[in-house]
Amino acid sequence: LASPRIARAQAAFPSRAITMVIPFAAGGPTDIVGRLLAESMGKDLGQPVVVENSTGAGGTIGAQRVAQARPDGYTVLLHHIGMGVIPTMYRRLAYDPVHGFEPLGLVTEVPMTLVGRRELPANSLAELVALMKSQGDRFNLADAGIGSSSALCGALFANAIGARPTVIPFRGTGPAMQEILGGRVDLLCDQTTQTTEYIRGGSVKVFATPSRTRIATLPEIPTTAEGGLPNFIVTVWHGLYAPKGTPAPICSRLTASLQAALRDPRIVQRFSEIGTAPVSQADATPEAHQRFWTADIAKWKPVIEATNAYAD
Ligand code: MLT
Repeated sequence: LASPRIARAQAAFPSRAITMVIPFAAGGPTDIVGRLLAESMGKDLGQPVVVENSTGAGGTIGAQRVAQARPDGYTVLLHHIGMGVIPTMYRRLAYDPVHGFEPLGLVTEVPMTLVGRRELPANSLAELVALMKSQGDRFNLADAGIGSSSALCGALFANAIGARPTVIPFRGTGPAMQEILGGRVDLLCDQTTQTTEYIRGGSVKVFATPSRTRIATLPEIPTTAEGGLPNFIVTVWHGLYAPKGTPAPICSRLTASLQAALRDPRIVQRFSEIGTAPVSQADATPEAHQRFWTADIAKWKPVIEATNAYAD
C-alpha cells in the first residue's frame, strides 16, 4: 500500500510541468509527432508537457536520460522502433533497454520513404540501385545513427541491393533532411511525417516506400516490392514510456492522457496530412504496447544478427 503522502502526491498528479524527452533532433519525425502529442496531453493533464530534445547515439542518449530519471511521472520518453532494435544492436549500454521502462501505450505507425537530393541522376528505384552500385562508397546515405529507423532502413536497403554507400550520421533526420535539400547528401530513408511536405513540394526525389502497400496520402510512390525488393519492408512505430518503477496510478493517468490526445481531432487531422494515423485506443495501452514491443524485439533480432548490424 502507498503511504498517505505518496497517495496524496499521486492524486494530485500532475502538479507541475512534465518533460517529454525526444531522443532525436528538433524538426524531425519524432519531434513532429512528440510536439503534437505534448501539446494535446498538456491540455488534458492541465499542466504543460515540455519537449526536450536529448539527442545522439541513435536515440540511446535520450532513452538513457529517461531510464535514469526519477520514476515520478514527470519525465517521459517518446521513442520508436529503435526500442525494438537497440536491445540487440547495442551490446553495451548504461541503461537496461528492455526492462528500464514502463510502456504507456503505442502512438502511431508511420510509413517510410526513400528520398534523394533533387539533382540525383536516377528517376526510379531501378535507376537508383544501378547508380548506387556503380558509385560504391562515393554515394552518400544520411541517417540518424545506429539504432535509428533511418539507419535500419538504409542498412536493409543497401544490404538488399548489395551496395556499400558511405553512411553519414546526424542527430536526427531533421538535420539530415537539410543536407538532402541542400544537395550535399544523396539519399535518406525517412518517415512521411517529415518527407510528405518535401515530396509534395518537389524539393526531393522519391523512389519507393518500403511498406507492404502504397501510402494512401502519397499513392504515386511505388512500394519496394513493386520495385523487385519484396523483403525490404520497414515501418516505424512510436510509443510513450515512463521510467521503470513509476507508480501504476501515475502510469494510468499518463496512458489516459495519451488516449485522449489520440482522439483529439487536431491530432487526427494533422497525422492524416503527414501520412499516418493514431493507433486504436486498445493499442494505446501498456499491455498492448508491451506485447507489440516484445514481439518487435524478437522480430528484429535475427535480422540484425544476419546483417551483423551491431553498434560496436
Ligand atoms: C528523427 O526523429 O530524427 C528520426 O525518427 C530518427 C530516425 O531515423 O529514426
